[in-house]
Amino acid sequence: MLSKKVEDALNAQIAYEAYASSSYLSMASWCEKEGYRGSTSFFYTQSEEEREHMLKLVRYINETGGHARVPALKEPPHVYKSLKDVFEIALQQEVDVSKSINKLVELSFDTKDFATFNFLQWYVAEQHEEEHLFTSILDLLKLAGSEGKNLLMADNEIPKLRGEEAKS
Ligand code: FEO
Repeated sequence: MLSKKVEDALNAQIAYEAYASSSYLSMASWCEKEGYRGSTSFFYTQSEEEREHMLKLVRYINETGGHARVPALKEPPHVYKSLKDVFEIALQQEVDVSKSINKLVELSFDTKDFATFNFLQWYVAEQHEEEHLFTSILDLLKLAGSEGKNLLMADNEIPKLRGEEAKS
């Protein structure tokens, strides 16, 4: 059974994951309008993944005696300065989500809710992967520079980095 405190904290995490999904969808849309085809595909997939992270939480809360709630979301930005700007915002978002997951892990441990502690280990590993993935993409974009053929080549490589991340 979930304590009220853990249930509320897990419900708050649903809101983070839902916002991440919405934010990545907005990034996909901007990339599509700007003609960054690789990043468009990357962010559509990323948005789906965040929705899955949200759904895992919904199912877990309901299976464990709580009631998962669907949050209202603020509108994400829809204009960005550059492709690098998009990925910088995305990395910061992942860092913030990691902090929130870490707090949840701490709460579950402190309240001896070891089922939730165990459930959250998947998110700990996922956040590590995602921070690494976004950092790698930013490294690639820094090498490519801000315009021209190199940037388009880097954009083309971005969806492939997700595959490499999954293998490592
Ligand atoms: Fe589910 Fe990338 O946070």
